[in-house]
Amino acid sequence: MFDSLLLVVFLTSFVNAENSLPEDFTRCRQKDAKLNECLKMAVPDALRRMKKGIPSLSVPEMEPLHVDSINVDSGSGPVVITQMYKKIKLHGLTDSVLTLYKADLKNYRLRTDSITPKMEFIADYIMRGRILLLPIQGKGIANITMVNLVVKHDLIGEPVVRDGQTYMHIKDYRVKFIPQRVLLHFTNLFNGDKVLGDNMNEFLNSNSDLVFNELKESYEKALSSVFQNVTNEIFDRVPMNKIFLED
Ligand SMILES: *[C@@H]1O[C@H](CO)[C@@H](O)[C@H](O)[C@H]1NC(C)=O
Ligand SMILES: *[C@@H]1O[C@H](CO)[C@@H](O)[C@H](O)[C@H]1NC(C)=O
Repeated sequence: MFDSLLLVVFLTSFVNAENSLPEDFTRCRQKDAKLNECLKMAVPDALRRMKKGIPSLSVPEMEPLHVDSINVDSGSGPVVITQMYKKIKLHGLTDSVLTLYKADLKNYRLRTDSITPKMEFIADYIMRGRILLLPIQGKGIANITMVNLVVKHDLIGEPVVRDGQTYMHIKDYRVKFIPQRVLLHFTNLFNGDKVLGDNMNEFLNSNSDLVFNELKESYEKALSSVFQNVTNEIFDRVPMNKIFLED
């Protein structure tokens, strides 16, 4: 019984060892002189087709994209806040468009700039600390909305050869966030004290550039690891020459 179960698992993983992109994804050719133009259209188009995920490639639902947890430890400076976010939902990623694409496939490097009209980060939060000398603490629901968010993505890959196929594994995924505007709202600040909470939300929003800049790096680190995982769900499963066609 146990043996045959193992055999089934083995055979299933063997059959699934090599995958391809969903049929309805646009394929771009490596040798195409307009490869970057092709990818600039194909990638956001694929993202829109991934709203509900791709079960066969273990790609999770993208609208919204669920993230388990993020801890943000902001050190010194005017904003010192320890924040824990759980049950995070990111809304709006699939509305992104790309404004630039630079594929350097010989060096397994992809660089792209995206713009997301409205990215909402909704999560359960717990935080404690101080901002410009004011104490802040709370436990409730956070809404961090980034309007016209420009993201600079830098994907550094390496070839991984398996069963004679080359896969482009992304070993480092760096992002820079440049939002035009950030709107913050935290429910239940100060144990639900409405006056203190309303005042603090107002204060956070009138200083949102400062607040966001202090926390930006932690958000970038956390989200780049999410983007890296989603990318590798595809790139580790679909051979490189089936993503970027060779002829
Ligand atoms: C989050 O905040 C934005 C901007 O204020 C608002 O448009 C949106 O409806 C809020 N989302 C939720 C789930 O509360
Ligand atoms: C990304 O994947 C790694 C390895 O599977 C895992 O340890 C990590 O928790 C994942 N990160 C996120 C943000 O999903």
